[in-house]
Formats: sequence, C-alpha cells, structure tokens
Amino acid sequence: MSRITVIGGTGYAGSAIVAEAASRGHQVTSLSRSLPDAPIPNVTYVEGDVTDEATLSAPIEGADVVAGAIAPRGALAGTFRDAYRTLGRLADAAGSRLFVVGGYSSLRPAPGADRFATDLSHIPAEVLDEVRAGAGLIIEDLPATPATLDWVFVSPAARFGADQPGERLGRYRLGDEVAVEPEDGGAISAADYALGFVDLIEKNDHHRAQVNLCH
Ligand SMILES: NC(=O)c1ccc[n+]([C@@H]2O[C@H](COP(=O)([O-])OP(=O)(O)OC[C@H]3O[C@@H](n4cnc5c(N)ncnc54)[C@H](OP(=O)(O)O)[C@@H]3O)[C@@H](O)[C@H]2O)c1
Repeated sequence: MSRITVIGGTGYAGSAIVAEAASRGHQVTSLSRSLPDAPIPNVTYVEGDVTDEATLSAPIEGADVVAGAIAPRGALAGTFRDAYRTLGRLADAAGSRLFVVGGYSSLRPAPGADRFATDLSHIPAEVLDEVRAGAGLIIEDLPATPATLDWVFVSPAARFGADQPGERLGRYRLGDEVAVEPEDGGAISAADYALGFVDLIEKNDHHRAQVNLCH
C-alpha cells in the first residue's frame, strides 16, 4: 500500500487515477479547488489551490507518490510550469516520487525523431498554449530538477480527454518517449490510462523518464 496524493484528483485524468488507486487499497488523497459531487469512498479530499504552497505541505509531506493531474488551462494557463516546479521541489524534499499526467505532443513519432511538439504549425490555436506548457515540462523543467527527484511523465495517446472518453477495456500498451502508434496516436480511455498509471507507480521500474500509454 502506498500513500498517493493526486493534485487535481477530481479532473478527467485525476479522478480516474484516484479511483484506480483507491480500488487497489492505496491510501489516496486528492487536492483540488473544489470538492467532487460524487466522492470516491475511502479517498481523502482536500480543498486547496496548487499555487498556494501552504496548502501543499501536508498532502505532500506524507506521500510516497505525488501524482500531478492539473491542466494548463484557465487560471493555471500561465502558472502551470511554475506549479510543477513547486510540486517537484516539495516532492523532492519529502522523498516522494512525482508522476505527471502529460500530453501526447511531447512524444516522438520515431526513435531519434523530433518530438511532435517541435513543429506546432499543425496544432489548433485553442490548445497551442496547453501543448507548449506540457512540452516545456518534459523537455526543459523535469530534466532540470535535482537528480534526487524521481519523476515519471506519463503521456496519453493523442485521442484522450473528457471530450472523447472511450471505454474501459482493462488493458493498455506501454511505450517510452516514442508514441506507440505514430500513425494516429491511438486512443485510450481514462480508466485504462489510470490502470497503466497505477501499474507504473506500483512497479516502480521507470525513473526520470517519459512513457506513453495507449490502447
Ligand atoms: N491527448 C493529450 O495529450 C491530452 C488530452 C487531455 C488532457 N491532457 C493532459 O492531461 C492533464 C490533465 O488534464 P485533464 O483534462 O484531466 O484536466 P481537468 O479535467 O481539467 O482536471 C484538472 C484538475 O485540476 C484541478 N485544478 C485546476 N486548477 C487547480 C488549482 N489551481 N489548484 C488545484 N487544483 C486545480 C481541477 O479541479 P478544480 O477546478 O476544482 O480545482 C481538476 O481536479 C493536462 O496536463 C492535460 O494537458 C493531455
């Protein structure tokens, strides 16, 4: 049993990770600005803002794993990378591993090839800043953290998200920083992404690395 704190544990990806981890008997805490309408049993919900460092101390100090599931949208559009810098620093100080719900665009289409995000010309304007922020996290910020911080950046398939929820198949495929299906990026539901995400936490066999999950 691990103590897992999910920052943004009421969102699309975060709530699936919370549900999966709790169902396996992990001790799960979720932090978000508002409480969920349908709380998951045996989960501790904390109301707080990730930009307020004081609210992060207690949920992170007691955690074996901090899972980041916030999104670079809305109020976090300009502060997402700063929020992760804080999460990384606090997780490192607490000796917690940091797992990040990442994006597809920072993957590579083939070994040694440029990341998809290297050419942003095909990215729709409405998600451009989100793609930039997520890519900045894995390309610049996480590799620059102290070597003592154990992080894993978990990119989903291109087809993933609240607007295309998909179904639970009870399986997933795991890749490294090369997209498992470079042709179309594949797809994955939140439930199956969470299955892979919690397996990665439990197996603890990736360190300071990017991986990707698709169906
Ligand atoms: N195919 C892809 O590459 C793909 C597709 C979708 C998502 N993603 C990525 O996956 C990640 C998660 O996205 P998502 O769609 O699951 O996000 P989401 O559904 O919008 O959930 C965001 C979560 O963060 C919480 N939150 C927001 N602002 C906060 C703050 N200031 N302090 C504390 N908690 C805060 C939200 O709850 P409150 O609002 O109550 O605080 C919610 O729990 C993002 O990095 C996103 O870019 C990638």
